[in-house]
Amino acid sequence: MELRKIGLYIHIPFCKKKCYYCDFVSYENANDNLVFEYFSSLESELIFYKENYEFEIDTIYIGGGTPSFISAKYILKLFEFIYSNFKIKDNYEITIEANPESITHEKLQSYSLAGVNRLSVGIQSLNDTELKAIGRIHNSEVALKSLSIVPLYFENFNVDVIVGLPYQNFESFMQTLNKLLDFSPPHISIYSLKIEEGTPLFENYEKYESFLPSEDEERKMFWCAKRILFETGFCHYEISNFAKKGFECKHNLKYWNCNEYIGIGCAAHSYFDGYRYYNTSNISEYINKIKKNGLAVEGKEFISVEESEKEFIILGLRKIEGFSLNEFRERFGADFERKYKYQIEKLKKYGLIEIEKNCVKLTERGIDLANLVWQEFV
Ligand SMILES: C[S@@+](CC[C@H](N)C(=O)[O-])C[C@H]1O[C@@H](n2cnc3c(N)ncnc32)[C@H](O)[C@@H]1O
Ligand code: SF4
Repeated sequence: MELRKIGLYIHIPFCKKKCYYCDFVSYENANDNLVFEYFSSLESELIFYKENYEFEIDTIYIGGGTPSFISAKYILKLFEFIYSNFKIKDNYEITIEANPESITHEKLQSYSLAGVNRLSVGIQSLNDTELKAIGRIHNSEVALKSLSIVPLYFENFNVDVIVGLPYQNFESFMQTLNKLLDFSPPHISIYSLKIEEGTPLFENYEKYESFLPSEDEERKMFWCAKRILFETGFCHYEISNFAKKGFECKHNLKYWNCNEYIGIGCAAHSYFDGYRYYNTSNISEYINKIKKNGLAVEGKEFISVEESEKEFIILGLRKIEGFSLNEFRERFGADFERKYKYQIEKLKKYGLIEIEKNCVKLTERGIDLANLVWQEFV
């Protein structure tokens, strides 16, 4: 019998310094003791899954935080543990996130030796004024230097950039994009800046407001980037993601395809056996809970068929190809066009979605106004 395939996400909640826009769970400048304890807890949490379930891992994503901030010895040991306790599918994808200032030859070599075959580098911008305004600790020179060594170790790598940053304009964004393309990354993520509550960017919004590009400018930058990337051989495959053929991120596709994954570490989420699980976000609580129970789940939610259907629609529409009507029918035993007739008519009337070759997808206008589309299905 074929084993069920699982994606594994591991959260590394450590950063040298918090960036002004970021609300991901991470702790600044953690000491070695805390990192050591955290990694022991990760192993204990993994043991729970090993003892209770049978599966084969086909993707691993080590995200953060900044996994490259901590010593590579922790990552190496974690992989040894994973390989000796779990079945890993041939043809796996293993990604690790890295920040420019902590990328070194030694670290990349260690990751590669540990089986990591995809690196995701958070560049955000190659303009020093923009980088400073968002509290990044690297400048463009450091970013370029790190990018020059990444291809020596990884054929498959991604660069993250953000569009809509304070002080960013069309020209500076295009310069960032063109300089990045010099390194021939096979994958680029372009995120629209989100001003998240509780972040310094949100709290000091008045200070930044007049330096932020307008929504129209931000969209113009995004669509021009898409055109340039298309001409360079990239396929736009998810709202914020572009890849050369064959370099789409398999792990993230699991999220958008509503496939199962297990999240390990503080603040990690899992989708497994029809439930969503949420781990506690507080690192001390995470470590204590794991010591006591081997798990640190704070919330568990059964996903009803109705909710599962909505998730399938919203996540599926994030993919540029959309979702297939046949797959909807197979998964839910219902006809999407009949069941959501009212929403479809409304969204089509506003030019936000289209149905083509038996797939439902966002139009370009729908990509710009995706929140309006999601509202129809929540
Ligand atoms: C898990 S985060 C951090 C990865 C890595 N530590 C870094 O800083 O590059 C992954 C990506 O999310 C994006 N991101 C984080 N917060 C964001 C926000 N508020 N708006 C838009 N993009 C954001 C950034 O591009 C970032 O590289
Ligand atoms: S963007 Fe990356 S480096 Fe900055 S605080 Fe968030 S996780 Fe840390």
